[in-house]
Amino acid sequence: MFNQFTSISFFDSTTFQNMTVKILAFCGSSRRDSLNRKLLEIAASAARTDGAEVTFITLADFPLPIYDVDVESAHGVPERVRALQELFARHDALLVASPEHNGGYTAVLKNMLDWVSRPTATGSSGLTLFAGKVAAVVSASPGPMGGIRAMLGMRGVLEKMGAILIPQVFSLGSAHQAFAENGGLVDEKAEAEVRRVGLGLVGVTKQLTTH
Ligand SMILES: Cc1cc2nc3c(=O)[nH]c(=O)nc-3n(C[C@H](O)[C@H](O)[C@H](O)COP(=O)(O)O)c2cc1C
Repeated sequence: MFNQFTSISFFDSTTFQNMTVKILAFCGSSRRDSLNRKLLEIAASAARTDGAEVTFITLADFPLPIYDVDVESAHGVPERVRALQELFARHDALLVASPEHNGGYTAVLKNMLDWVSRPTATGSSGLTLFAGKVAAVVSASPGPMGGIRAMLGMRGVLEKMGAILIPQVFSLGSAHQAFAENGGLVDEKAEAEVRRVGLGLVGVTKQLTTH
C-alpha cells in the first residue's frame, strides 16, 4: 500500500454543498473480476457520500482500433470515440484505476485516451476535454507494489493532457487478498485511504469550479 497527502481538511467541502460534482470513472481493465474496478468502486462510493454523481464506463463497451494516424485519415474518428468525447465533456472530474502491465499502464487505457484527445465533432481539440479537469488515479495489483508504476505513469499522462491531478494517491498491493465479501477492504486503514481519494477528488473539483 502506498499513500500520501492523506489530509483533505484544506478543502472544506461543506463550503460548496450546493454543487453536484460529476465524475467519470473508468478502469484500465475490462476483466470481469477486475481488482482495479473493485478499488474504483470504493473511491466512487466515498465521492457519492459527498454528493457527487459518478458515471462508470467499461472500456469493453467501447472497443477501438489501435490509434494510428493512417486509420484516422482513412476512416475518421470512430463513433465510439465521439460517444466517449461527449461523456468526457459532460463530467467535471475523472476517477481512474490503472492496472499495471509490465511496469506501465495498460495499452487499452492509453489507447482510449489517445483517441479521445483527437479533434471533436465540432473541430476543437480533444485535449480541451482534459484541460482543467480534475483527476485522481488509483491502482491495484496482486504484486507487492500494487501497480504504483502504472498509477504514477498514468498521472503523468493525464497531467500532460491538461488535467489537474489531486495529491491523494493509492496503490493496493496483494490486491487478490485485500477485498472483503462486502466489496470493502479487509484493512480498514487502507479503505480509509481509498475513500480519501474519492473525497479529495470531490473537494478539489468543488474548490476549482467555484472559483
Ligand atoms: C501482460 C501482463 C503484465 C503484467 N505486469 C505486471 C506488472 O508489471 N506489475 C504488476 O504489479 N502486475 C502485473 N501484472 C498483473 C496484473 O497486475 C494483474 O493481472 C491485475 O489483476 C490486473 O488488473 P485487474 O485485476 O484490474 O484486471 C501483469 C499482468 C499481465 C497480464
